[in-house]
Amino acid sequence: MKGLILSGGKGTRLRPITHTSAKQLIPVANKPVLFYGIEALATAGIEDVGIIIAPETGEEIRAAAGDGSRFGVHITYIVQDVPAGLAHAVLTAEPFLGDDPFVMYLGDNLLQGGIVDLVERFKTSQCDALILLTPVPDPENYGVAELDGDRVVRLVEKPRSPVSDLALVGVYMFTASVHDAARAITPSARGELEITDAIQNLVDSGLRVEPHIVSGWWKDTGQLADMLEANRLILDVMEARCDGVLEDSQLDGRVVVAAGARLERSTVRGPAIIGAGARLIDAYVGPYTAIGDRCLIESAEVENSILLTGCEVRRLDGRVESSLLGRNVRIVRDGRQPRAYRFMLGDSSEVRVP
Ligand code: DAU
Repeated sequence: MKGLILSGGKGTRLRPITHTSAKQLIPVANKPVLFYGIEALATAGIEDVGIIIAPETGEEIRAAAGDGSRFGVHITYIVQDVPAGLAHAVLTAEPFLGDDPFVMYLGDNLLQGGIVDLVERFKTSQCDALILLTPVPDPENYGVAELDGDRVVRLVEKPRSPVSDLALVGVYMFTASVHDAARAITPSARGELEITDAIQNLVDSGLRVEPHIVSGWWKDTGQLADMLEANRLILDVMEARCDGVLEDSQLDGRVVVAAGARLERSTVRGPAIIGAGARLIDAYVGPYTAIGDRCLIESAEVENSILLTGCEVRRLDGRVESSLLGRNVRIVRDGRQPRAYRFMLGDSSEVRVP
């Protein structure tokens, strides 16, 4: 069985971070979202992994994940020229997939509990597709399935009036029959070849599509609020560990401090993670915060936030909260006159001041 991770696309809902970086590389608890998917495949014994990449962000993904050896898999990179949909990505990967059954994993999805049992079930059930479903409060934002008992009746991508609250989770298992199904469909209203329509085609052709209702949590990290929630969910289950240096500082609860980090006169209240080489001086880091490698937090407070590598937050009066800062972002009070806000922000940045 092979693995196919979809890590192309545009990531428009996470701009400006995604102007310069792939959304699948945004870290959750200081680890790129994409890596959780690769690890899930590796744990399920899948060693041959294809990763769909976009021409714009592909190099960065290659550099991050490499040949896969550190995950115990072999990675083949497959360039998708245009983000023409998930079924288009499958067709692009056909030469890599051949006739093999495969797990398709959306590179911006996080699934608690892994996929070991599901891969086993798929192998023994002899169905043509196994789809994962979970009830959500906003089904109109997902692919939605209608079931009749244990039978999949209908699948609709982002329906205006959903017939059920069961969203398609971004992990699918297919036999090679999905290639013909992907070839048989036409682009949707948003101009994409939808995997949801390809699965509907399998159902209409009388092939066996089995549903599985996910019991643990699942997150599509496509937007800021989802990203922060994914961060909270992962931090909640990390084991506390301190490999850094504490000087006059305090760690409360579930806190991970990486090697080379240094805390001076600071408090970190977990769940939180402090990256390698980060420095906290007279700082407070509150629950559900991931401070990236080599960040500097000085005379400032940060809570429920994700800071990527190399950020600087210094001398702020108010607490930074529910924020996502890209690499090397600096937020500082400089005390210069006239007292005014001075910004240098990339396209589509957002600043909220009280
Ligand atoms: O997250 C689950 C949802 O994912 C499902 O409920 C939907 O049925 C499914 O269509 C998909 O919806 P999204 O609109 O969230 O998909 P998104 O455009 O975010 O793409 C998902 C991943 O696939 C993301 O990592 C980018 C990648 N991708 C996307 C497209 C459109 C590609 O690699 N190539 C593409 O052409």
